Amino acid sequence: MAQEYQKTVLIAAPGSGIGKIVTERLIKDYFRVIGIGGKNSKEFVDVLNQNGYSIDFVECDYTSESSVIEAFNEVKLLTPKIDGLLIFVGGSLFSKTIEDISYTDFRQVLAVNLDSTFLIGREGYIWMKEHNGGNIVFFGSTTGLRPSMKKMPYGVAKAAIHNLTLSFALEGAEYNIITNTIAPGYVMTDRHVDELKYKATESEDTYENIVNKIKSKNPMKQSLDPEDIYPLIKLLLTTSHIHGQVIRIDSGQILG
Ligand SMILES: NC(=O)c1ccc[n+]([C@@H]2O[C@H](COP(=O)([O-])OP(=O)(O)OC[C@H]3O[C@@H](n4cnc5c(N)ncnc54)[C@H](OP(=O)(O)O)[C@@H]3O)[C@@H](O)[C@H]2O)c1
Repeated sequence: MAQEYQKTVLIAAPGSGIGKIVTERLIKDYFRVIGIGGKNSKEFVDVLNQNGYSIDFVECDYTSESSVIEAFNEVKLLTPKIDGLLIFVGGSLFSKTIEDISYTDFRQVLAVNLDSTFLIGREGYIWMKEHNGGNIVFFGSTTGLRPSMKKMPYGVAKAAIHNLTLSFALEGAEYNIITNTIAPGYVMTDRHVDELKYKATESEDTYENIVNKIKSKNPMKQSLDPEDIYPLIKLLLTTSHIHGQVIRIDSGQILG
């Protein structure tokens, strides 16, 4: 007998990093997943579909209002409602000192992180309001709580997402729209692992030493894998009581 889906979750950027691992886990836990996104996301969903899963996907330019609205209109033809919305879109894009950051650089980081979260979040919110609510999960960062060197625009964008969470939660409460944000520390995504391995080939240090230095930045001396974030995501997709929170998952890194 076919297993019934637990809930329908719309995922923005299911194709790389944390989003990729979470998408696989949600499918295996019998969530119906619909993806929206760009090239990486489409390629990953195609692979999942070739491997026997069944995931709908709609292409979307996250930073274009008309593209996001159009993508939601297409998703509405696939499902009458969504129970959850997860937005993985984001990234620091570059490391630059303040004096080297052009206005174009600054706006680009805000567009990829903040504008995308607002646009996708707003469309999800409007839709959920019509269907007695749902659970929204944004992605912030510890960099939005405490600055990281050469990451000023990213920190600004993530701090704004943390605040966006509070407004979504305040206004969404009466419509049963639960909104929270996950603020991770450094996550060992495939891209970060590749970057660290490359760094090791370019320096005297070994990959293991570089990873140990990262671990030493938190009091628990541990690294954070995308899998470690999944239980929190599942909780935030199903909770009706955790609301308006920015939850750090960083092994206490920010305390030190
Ligand atoms: N990894 C970490 O250490 C870490 C730490 C703290 C917070 N976070 C946050 O957690 C979320 C997921 O992180 P991740 O490392 O898994 O992300 P990622 O794989 O680096 O990127 C996620 C997706 O964002 C979209 N994206 C990235 N840069 C873009 C650009 N310049 N223009 C348009 N789209 C762009 C892409 O979507 P498509 O493939 O669909 O085009 C990409 O696959 C992000 O919001 C990130 O800021 C990550």
